[in-house]
Amino acid sequence: MLLHPFKYMKISIVGASGYVGGELLRLLLWHPGVELAQATSGRNAGRYLYQVHPNLRGRTALQFIHPDKLEPCDLLFLALPHGEAAKAIERYAGLAERIIDCSADFRLADLAAYKRWYGEDHPAPAWLGRFIYGLPEVSREALRGARYASGVGCNATASNLALLPLVQAGLIDLTKPVLIEVKVGSSEGGATGSESSHHPERAGAVRSFAPVGHRHSAEIRQVTGLENTHLSITSVELVRGALATAHAFATRPLAEKDLWQAYRAFAKGQPFLRIVKERQGIYRYPEPKILAGSNFADIGFALDPESGRIVSICAIDNLMKGAAGSAVQCMNLMLGLDETLGLDFPGLHPV
Ligand SMILES: NC(=O)c1ccc[n+]([C@@H]2O[C@H](COP(=O)([O-])OP(=O)(O)OC[C@H]3O[C@@H](n4cnc5c(N)ncnc54)[C@H](OP(=O)(O)O)[C@@H]3O)[C@@H](O)[C@H]2O)c1
Repeated sequence: MLLHPFKYMKISIVGASGYVGGELLRLLLWHPGVELAQATSGRNAGRYLYQVHPNLRGRTALQFIHPDKLEPCDLLFLALPHGEAAKAIERYAGLAERIIDCSADFRLADLAAYKRWYGEDHPAPAWLGRFIYGLPEVSREALRGARYASGVGCNATASNLALLPLVQAGLIDLTKPVLIEVKVGSSEGGATGSESSHHPERAGAVRSFAPVGHRHSAEIRQVTGLENTHLSITSVELVRGALATAHAFATRPLAEKDLWQAYRAFAKGQPFLRIVKERQGIYRYPEPKILAGSNFADIGFALDPESGRIVSICAIDNLMKGAAGSAVQCMNLMLGLDETLGLDFPGLHPV
């Protein structure tokens, strides 16, 4: 059901000068069903959007406004550093009937898990239960018409979409650990530089960023229900992109056709999931390179029949399926629009 069929919904973005905010701007300025009303940046108030996001030059005359100048709108995207959305959620909820928060503030349903992984009590515990987890591949029906959706973790999304086909088909031996290695690009760190993102230090890096203890472990356990899952993150030479390679052991002897069946069943009806498993060519398995700017998540697998090890692979653009793309997909569902609206860019090749 279209909630407001005769008018464009007014959408604003808080944190629009960041990388996720910039991607939201790119998507929403070309979205046929909504109108971009305001975009905030404290540091860039008064500057044109293109002065921070040069890809928008000539396409919009909008200027950043200070977050204090935010006016009421129909739906608000929050793309803020960790903790900032939760601290001010009452104010934001007073400004918009619907909110999509791209941070980790409202992703975990369990307060104890939040404290364990984020090291502090949740600043707005009453709000946790109101947010639907913002990955349409797992919460599509709950997102339809919903008022509040969380964002998704990019590493968690690549990992979850790699594992869910196996989880849903009941193919994983739960007595053995499931190990996930995610290789990530530098834009995961956001637009503000640090010593580790300084070009001579970051360029060419294959750097163990979080061999253990990454916070997205909590999101993976929540979504897959797999408690015995373990995550390592490695930074690689990419700007955009995340590639999850998950290793799980099968409950019983399997043939490839069993896995095909499981992946097809999971991908059915999911407009942004593609199974990539070719016998020939260069792109035989999912690869983030060709997904830059697109909302697709490519999933694939390989089976070692001797050991029963299943290697499940998922590639995404961390700023798209791993953040802004999924968030716009959620917006479409929340507003009763076609889920794929504004998200049809297929990526580039060669790139
Ligand atoms: N980067 C990714 O791949 C990715 C993927 C999934 C989820 N996320 C999540 O999305 C959120 C944004 O990430 P990002 O990479 O876009 O970060 P970012 O590039 O550092 O951008 C943060 C934005 O928040 C604004 N901001 C900071 N403090 C604020 C406050 N108190 N009130 C209002 N605005 C404030 C900043 O602009 P001003 O300081 O100028 O106001 C900036 O526009 C984070 O929570 C991140 O965890 C990121």
